Amino acid sequence: MAKSARFQVDPRLATLLGESYRSSEHALKELVDNAWDADAHEVDIQLPAPMTNDPIVIRDDGTGMTEQEVRSEYLKVASDRRSRKGEETLSLKRRIKGRKGIGKFAGLMAASTMVMETQAHGKRTGLVIRKEDLLDSRQDLEKIDLPLTTSECDERDHGTTITLTDLNQALAFPTAERLRELLVLEYGRRSDFTIRVNGEALAIEDIPGEAFTERAQLQAEGPVKLSLTFAEGKRPLKHPGVVVRVGGKVVGKPIYFGLDEDEEVPGKLLKKVYGEIEADGLAADVTPDWGAIIENSTGFKAVETWAREQLKEKLNKVFVRQMSLAKARLQQEIDRRLAGLPEHRRRFAEAALQRVLTKFYGESEERRGTVINVMLDAFERDEYWAVIQAIEVARHQGVATFADALGQFGLVDMAVIGLQTRRRLEILDRLDELMTRPDTQEKELHQVIERNLWLLEGDFTLLSSNQTVATILKKWADKEFTGDRAKKRPDLLLCAMLTGRHLLIEFKEPGHSIDRDDETQATKYRDDLRRHFDPLEVLVIGGRAATSVDANWRPPGLHVRSYAAVVSAARARLGWLLDQLTNDQQAA
Ligand SMILES: Nc1ncnc2c1ncn2[C@@H]1O[C@H](COP(=O)(O)OP(=O)(O)O)[C@@H](O)[C@H]1O
Ligand SMILES: [Mg+2]
Repeated sequence: MAKSARFQVDPRLATLLGESYRSSEHALKELVDNAWDADAHEVDIQLPAPMTNDPIVIRDDGTGMTEQEVRSEYLKVASDRRSRKGEETLSLKRRIKGRKGIGKFAGLMAASTMVMETQAHGKRTGLVIRKEDLLDSRQDLEKIDLPLTTSECDERDHGTTITLTDLNQALAFPTAERLRELLVLEYGRRSDFTIRVNGEALAIEDIPGEAFTERAQLQAEGPVKLSLTFAEGKRPLKHPGVVVRVGGKVVGKPIYFGLDEDEEVPGKLLKKVYGEIEADGLAADVTPDWGAIIENSTGFKAVETWAREQLKEKLNKVFVRQMSLAKARLQQEIDRRLAGLPEHRRRFAEAALQRVLTKFYGESEERRGTVINVMLDAFERDEYWAVIQAIEVARHQGVATFADALGQFGLVDMAVIGLQTRRRLEILDRLDELMTRPDTQEKELHQVIERNLWLLEGDFTLLSSNQTVATILKKWADKEFTGDRAKKRPDLLLCAMLTGRHLLIEFKEPGHSIDRDDETQATKYRDDLRRHFDPLEVLVIGGRAATSVDANWRPPGLHVRSYAAVVSAARARLGWLLDQLTNDQQAA
């Protein structure tokens, strides 16, 4: 007699499936994928504040589901949606992300209770899934009763909200930052799909930078499209590189097509690349978990070769342009300082600066400012030229190889920078001492800082003081603080900044905390002096900001620093530079 048999599905399977994600952020992404598949335009993810019992809420404005759909589709385990409903979404023709029919369990990785509420066609359907019930049940998965509710809602309402409560305390809570990084990789450049995490939309389209798009038709692999953005800004990208997208879905990690091994490529710039390459022709070469492209894929080799060439060309283009831009911004100050040098020295100095700037390419403007400033100082000192001259003499005496080697590696420049940096660190030590002595007057600190404006470099690139500016300031103060007001005369210094701006510095005693009255005073001086110098910013340096003062409520263009902060920031910059030099020597 012919009999039949049936699989029995242990309910634990559901929680096992939910736990197969690498992190809770990966799990949440699965729920975002569901919103995408539901043709949502917006997804709002609310993460709990640390140390609270708040839930995680994922709300989308997609099609939602009717009770019937909840029963027949949502609750269907491991059914392939694409064979059921096709490769594309109904109205927006998006490529479906869901494929395994298990995404809904992802929420159970992070939480013990998952509430799903969905609205479609005037009906609201609610469903509660408890991990405990699944784990404790002795029955088959399909025999477990899940509480389901229905009610009326507005005909126009549609969308689904997943609420995850009783979060798994053993697990690292999902962080907004990590989740955004993850989502941006896949959804960052979609204009029809806005994702907000804690109320803030992902902002990859806003990443400022130079962008390129290249397309090609490869022989066997079909159409490929490469999009690249060279991100601006000082913050390093968390996931730089180019992701491969096959069938709309990202495969594996960002890559550089081997250019990270190429010595000719400026590595710092490479780390600014954010891009993707679409190569649907590689679909057959993707591993089943969509985690990588299978090794030895000849199709991928072809795509890679094309992409490497494109990327390298763009890198060079951007590099050349950014180098000259970076120089142009600093050029005014460089020219001014070099103008004081005799002609033959000037040409040499220009070449040396160029060499050093190339070496420090990709560092922040602030850091390049530090390097240039140190170099310019060195040029103004005779010992630099003494070294250069010694090398020239050596060259003529036939000790050429050594001298050439020195010149080639820029070791002279580096050595001089090193010397100069150490000298500056000594100045910082002196300032430290001065600052902490109880009887120090603001006048003394004023003198040291005026003679060493590089101290303020981090925030104000390439400051300089000159006679004209000083005279105008003095005239104003003489007029303003006469008679009994003379005692109130502030200790001021006016500096020219790069790009025509000016900075008014007011020095306070190192023991004095800067309060609102000081800020108001300083702003008033600035407003008075604006007639002569506009734009004009003002910096008050003193003990530190009074504890009662909220730095967020400060008028624009007003800066407050403590002497200690100035010293420690300068120390950090110089420390970095010394580190660079040491590494450089070792590499050479
Ligand atoms: N946010 C949602 N909005 C509308 N329908 C959804 C949503 N989440 C899930 N569904 C429905 O439930 C089904 C099962 O989802 P899931 O377990 O993630 O598997 P898959 O996405 O692989 O089909 C989906 O195919 C879809 O029909
Ligand atoms: Mg899914």
